[in-house]
Amino acid sequence: MALLEIKKFGCPTLRKKATPVQDVTDEVRQLVADMFETMYEAEGVGLAAQQVGFTERLLVLDVRPRDPMSEPLAFINPEILWTEGECVGEEGCLSLPEIVGDVKRPAQVQVRALNENGSVFEMTLDGIAAKALQHEIDHLNGVLIIEHFNAIKRNLLRGQLRKLQREGKKQAPGLTYV
Ligand code: NI
Repeated sequence: MALLEIKKFGCPTLRKKATPVQDVTDEVRQLVADMFETMYEAEGVGLAAQQVGFTERLLVLDVRPRDPMSEPLAFINPEILWTEGECVGEEGCLSLPEIVGDVKRPAQVQVRALNENGSVFEMTLDGIAAKALQHEIDHLNGVLIIEHFNAIKRNLLRGQLRKLQREGKKQAPGLTYV
């Protein structure tokens, strides 16, 4: 396993829309393992491929620090089938260090994806898992939490974002081992 560089706001890869994974190969499984390791090292609860300079449609999730009954999961080509309810909660992002803000999202989601063996599974998530999954799917669509913030909040963050952006622009856009 290996640690990957986490792309920061300003790195163009974060704005790319992911392309579906054609085949769940050993390379894909290796990437999933490296993404889990990178996420744990950064103390995150979710990580999308774009955040490590990859543009395939996959993400990893492990919300056990917030929900001990959950389990670590990889979602390859995830699709949200339906959503229900609404909840507002504070979110942060490994690609936007030190930035947190309220994001409104559906409270419950039904998702279909492939697992690391290439088999289709469906599950219903709520609470922190639903929130984190939707946050990571946003990444797969090139969307960041700041797009969910209101205009006042975005204005307040302008200086901080500009600083982050300068750093992010210096990062290589592709997969980099650290
Ligand atoms: Ni994020």
